[in-house]
Amino acid sequence: MLKWLDQAIFYEIYPQSFLDTNADGIGDFQGIIEKLDYIRSLGCNALWINPCFLSPFGDAGYDVADYYRTAPRYGTNEDLKRVFREAHKRDMHVLLDLVPGHTSIEHPWFKESAKIKRNEFTDRYIWTDHVWTYPEGMGGISGFSQRDGVCVTNFFSIQPALNYGFYQPDPEKKWQQAFEDEGPQATLAAMEDVMRFWLNMGCDGFRVDMAGSLVKNDPEGKGTIRLWQQVRSFLDKEFPQAAMISEWGEPDKSLLGGFHMDFLLHFGPSHYNDLFRCPEPYFSSRGKGDIYEFVEKYKENYEKSKGKGLICIPSGNHDMKRLAYQIHGDELKIAFAFLLSMPGAPFIYYGDEIGMRYVEGLDSVEGGYDRTGSRSPMQWDSSTNAGFSSAPVQDLYIAQDPDPHRPTVQNQMEDPNSLYHEVKKLIKIRQEHTALQNRSSIDFICASKNTYPLAYVRKSQDEAVLVIINPSSASQSFSCPYIPAEPIYTFGGDCTSDNGNISVPGSFAGFYHI
Ligand code: GLC
Ligand code: CA
Repeated sequence: MLKWLDQAIFYEIYPQSFLDTNADGIGDFQGIIEKLDYIRSLGCNALWINPCFLSPFGDAGYDVADYYRTAPRYGTNEDLKRVFREAHKRDMHVLLDLVPGHTSIEHPWFKESAKIKRNEFTDRYIWTDHVWTYPEGMGGISGFSQRDGVCVTNFFSIQPALNYGFYQPDPEKKWQQAFEDEGPQATLAAMEDVMRFWLNMGCDGFRVDMAGSLVKNDPEGKGTIRLWQQVRSFLDKEFPQAAMISEWGEPDKSLLGGFHMDFLLHFGPSHYNDLFRCPEPYFSSRGKGDIYEFVEKYKENYEKSKGKGLICIPSGNHDMKRLAYQIHGDELKIAFAFLLSMPGAPFIYYGDEIGMRYVEGLDSVEGGYDRTGSRSPMQWDSSTNAGFSSAPVQDLYIAQDPDPHRPTVQNQMEDPNSLYHEVKKLIKIRQEHTALQNRSSIDFICASKNTYPLAYVRKSQDEAVLVIINPSSASQSFSCPYIPAEPIYTFGGDCTSDNGNISVPGSFAGFYHI
């Protein structure tokens, strides 16, 4: 298990929206380099950078046209190498985004695979054997090639699915291959080669896109788990230091496949949306939310994944509404008290640390659709375009939050009561207390149905900390077998303890030694 993951706190960078240093309206590698000190001083020590490879950008770069070349709009391969070097100088690690499930329709592999004459890439993608045979339960594109068949797609119809085979190929359907067959094995070898290329360049690992859906007709994920186990043995042999995190959302499966970490996601069985993104989120001060189902599912996953790897709860990402969409003000601070006191490596989506808002009413940009409003350029200061870019405003990659009172790093740094300062403080406290860190244990004390507060104990070998989180505006109490000793963090007042009963004020978070 990688040592640096014990204390890793990630910052997700959507590169097109972070900092533009050549006034073309789009963020770039140099922009990332210039802000490494900012990220480090917030307390984050690791990065996840969204796909930055050659692409027609039909899905913001999740449609790769060349896995070995960066998109010129961000800079060259050499510039990306500089990102790695500069990050390492600051004791930071960098994960790239690997998109193994599909490519762009502009990828040369795909163009070759669409040819009528059999070639090296004929089996690189999943094709049915006739243009009239539609792949059941999957998307497909047809009628554009001389090759007779429908090509399976994964996400948008511009993203043809790479061929990793079927879990149990239907013997009636000769076009379905098994993972062990030559075509799928060649696809995986090609993807391992991509990983090898960037790891040799100095990246520290990968966030893996749609990691759980590579093998088809695999409802329990058994085939895909086996696939990742094969990747794990490749990495163990050649790059034992590479960190792997999956976009899977089912840690019991992904960690078995050899990932070090898995995300809880806004889809799948995790109940993650109950926290911040549903009509009555638990973290709203209205106090009408419910965290019970989330905790039950979390406990189940936690037991299964104990000692195997980390379950990571992100503040948000480029696919969902901003954290500040449904919760605001102090609610955000209390949400971060939770995010930064849970096990697993925390992931902060750029701008969430200053409460950047979801920008309403934007036209879709590069396949963003309703995700576009969560991808608007970072708000640094009060200069032109909030310091993101000196390009004319109409050239910006995505329009920025038009509110004159929009949060910026600058105005939040100047305000001692800002969200920025609270997040920074919480990160510092986490890093100073082993009990709060990524691998320390969790034991839920209070998390019942329709009830506030939430309370849990985090424990390391030398420390135990009771965490109490009360997002509701009403004071609450609960019975607790522990007596809180000196606080290591409080927000919104203090708790009182009486005869096995703890009372807390409304809109409160506190961490106590026990
Ligand atoms: C993942 C990415 C998302 C992308 C999709 C297809 O969910 O996070 O942005 O559109 O995969 O690659
Ligand atoms: Ca630029």
